[in-house]
Amino acid sequence: MSVLIQGGRIITASEDYVADVYIEDETVSLIGTSLDVDADRVIDASGKYVLPGCIDPHTHLDMPFGGTITADDFQSGQTSAAFGGTTCHIDFAIQSKGQSFTAGLEEWHAKADGKAMIDYGFHIIVSDLKEGGTLEELATLPDLGVTSYKMLMAYKGVFLVDDETLFRVMELATQTGALAMIHGENGEVIDVLVKRAVAEGNLDPSWHAKTRPAELEGEATNRAIQIAHLAGCPLYVVHVTCKESVGAIARARELGWPVWGETCTQYFFVDDTYLDRPNFEGAKAVFSPPVRDKSNQPILWNAVRSDVLSAISTDHCSFNFDGQKMLGKDDFSKIPNGAPGLEDRLLMIHHFGVNEGRISLNRMVELLSTNAAKLFGLYPRKGTIAPGSDADIVVFDPEKEHTISAATHHSSVDYNLYEGTTVVGAPEVVLLRGHVLVEDGELVASPGIGQFVKRARFGEELKPAKAT
Ligand code: URP
Ligand code: ZN
Repeated sequence: MSVLIQGGRIITASEDYVADVYIEDETVSLIGTSLDVDADRVIDASGKYVLPGCIDPHTHLDMPFGGTITADDFQSGQTSAAFGGTTCHIDFAIQSKGQSFTAGLEEWHAKADGKAMIDYGFHIIVSDLKEGGTLEELATLPDLGVTSYKMLMAYKGVFLVDDETLFRVMELATQTGALAMIHGENGEVIDVLVKRAVAEGNLDPSWHAKTRPAELEGEATNRAIQIAHLAGCPLYVVHVTCKESVGAIARARELGWPVWGETCTQYFFVDDTYLDRPNFEGAKAVFSPPVRDKSNQPILWNAVRSDVLSAISTDHCSFNFDGQKMLGKDDFSKIPNGAPGLEDRLLMIHHFGVNEGRISLNRMVELLSTNAAKLFGLYPRKGTIAPGSDADIVVFDPEKEHTISAATHHSSVDYNLYEGTTVVGAPEVVLLRGHVLVEDGELVASPGIGQFVKRARFGEELKPAKAT
């Protein structure tokens, strides 16, 4: 199967030019002007952007959490990703307490098998080194293509790991060529604040943010950075929300330490006043770290523009308002933490980032695709448009108007944080390895088209598919 994408404006992290892209056998084979080739399918991209498929390095599909299970499984979550121009994501496989790492990983493979609509990889969440998994076993995961170890410093009694585990896993990452990742919030202090709030009868959703103050994100982020420095390992800080943790990452990067940070779409647009919405609506914005004071939003834009933060993910972790968020109606601490957003990232960041002059188109591609590919062992197979790379491509109409709504999005979840927001610019055709997934608002691919990608170790390139 061959495809010719004609006359579009190709935008990568470093280039911006008009050309044709010829795709053969799932990869980009030729790029040039007025290509004289026969193709099974020709897509006219004149007046359109031709972007590398977006990569979301932080999602939670089919995940049990907070006494329930996410509304999106791999099929619905990845379908919604495809409509939003995301053609690859890295989900979190969980090692539950007492479980081996490989058993956790196999569980997540089974969740995706046969359902995948886009390509995907897995990080492993390390919950416990004492009963189930061992460091020796964790050391084998990079050979299976799982080249990032995530540790959560929050959620006491569920995922929280102590500093000993943090340090030991970071030392292991140094040896195995994995990238250490942390969720930076001080879960011990949060636990005290949550129990106190509940005991004092402070139970509405606003207390979710009040019991997880920015100081505790700054402290945990800085602690992890210092421990990683001692362990000699590269560190990626997920979902950064506030000036306290942006500052810690900026200081480390100024010193030349191998530290990177991501933020998520929602932190640019949703602030802590959302939690006060009547009729328990605030629960829709209960996720961790919490939404912050609005003054943090320009700090985040500045951080992504100036490369203090290197990626924008979604942390897509969807729970229905009805029946799931409602579990915490009488007690904020029982609201399942998480929000949807896989479909909306490119729309929102293009409109409010590029159209409103906060970031360039090249920087948008870097933040939504290329940097994640480079940091997580997918580049140059993914994250760019170049001969040999997978033909994961978004033909994007920069003039198309689109109004975001739960009534029209493709996730299974029953609300959208950006409900009613009208953006200018939207995907028109989305291709995964040359196969059209979405065209003119219709899904044209079937479950099973997505493939697991064995990622390269940190700092190593993932060879083009034809070369492997
Ligand atoms: O609230 C969130 N973010 N839920 C998903 C798990 C996590 O903390 O990333
Ligand atoms: Zn997450």
